[in-house]
Amino acid sequence: MEKIRSGVYGLNALMDGGINEHTTTVVIGSPGAGKTTFATQFLRRGLEEGEDAVFITLDEAPQEIIKNAKLMGWEDAESYIESGNMVFVDAGGKQFSNFIRRELAEFVREWEGHAARIVVDPLTPVLWSVKEKYEQRELVSFLLRQTRRIGTVLCTLEEHGVVADLSAPELIIPMYLGDNVIHLRYASHDRPRGGPLRAPRPRGQEGAAEPREGRRGDPGDDGQARPGGEVEREGAREPHADRRHAGGGGPGGRGPARDPRPRPRGVRAGGVTCAGSVTR
Ligand SMILES: Nc1ncnc2c1ncn2[C@@H]1O[C@H](COP(=O)(O)OP(=O)(O)OP(=O)(O)O)[C@@H](O)[C@H]1O
Ligand SMILES: [Mg+2]
Repeated sequence: MEKIRSGVYGLNALMDGGINEHTTTVVIGSPGAGKTTFATQFLRRGLEEGEDAVFITLDEAPQEIIKNAKLMGWEDAESYIESGNMVFVDAGGKQFSNFIRRELAEFVREWEGHAARIVVDPLTPVLWSVKEKYEQRELVSFLLRQTRRIGTVLCTLEEHGVVADLSAPELIIPMYLGDNVIHLRYASHDRPRGGPLRAPRPRGQEGAAEPREGRRGDPGDDGQARPGGEVEREGAREPHADRRHAGGGGPGGRGPARDPRPRPRGVRAGGVTCAGSVTR
């Protein structure tokens, strides 16, 4: 299985070199733990490798996400929207549930053949929009199975209640269905040197039974945020071994990919808007 670089500092080392392509990763964290930042860095790295990015946002407006991304050092984020390599789907939980049921299959058909990274941030409102657990499971399972056909998927989950208690029902279903589970935690007094980033379940990797733990300051990646609030960039890096988009990313992986293939046309579904448009 091919690995893709996560874009998150220290994570690739924890996951034997990166995230397995066409897998689904669940990132769990309490409010402000860094879920959206994590998701943004994951997409950024893909775009710099010549992949496409789909950011499904259920909480923050796309403009807000772009603004924060720029503050974190991703200055040319907007150019990827202009080039059509990054699209936002901006929806509420209920709207997106309906989108999954009625239009996701068509959306996936349009993106088939594209190497994309797909983010759902956060997935929690989608679960809340459905009452029955069985139905929640069906919906999340369908979402993950479909989206992984067009790329590597990352869903964030809000952690409510007691920190580190991962037995809450809205965490259990996606944790079981996802291939990898990453738990973001704050630094605290008993862990004074930075919040560990835990990868409790990297599927399909050696030692998967044992949770791995690392710190966001660990070496092993590039283009990542480090504790302290800034995103560090390194100089030109080697092109990705599995770069499938000719010309993507430009030298050193900077700038929007020049992808000659036709873009999927926009999808518009009851308030869910994408293809570069950023209105809810
Ligand atoms: N790796 C990091 N290094 C430094 N600062 C970070 C890092 N990740 C996130 N932050 C900062 O922490 C704050 C919260 O981050 P973010 O919005 O990503 O959290 P969140 O988990 O998505 O929050 P919410 O639950 O409100 O959606 C932001 O100000 C962001 O700049
Ligand atoms: Mg967030």
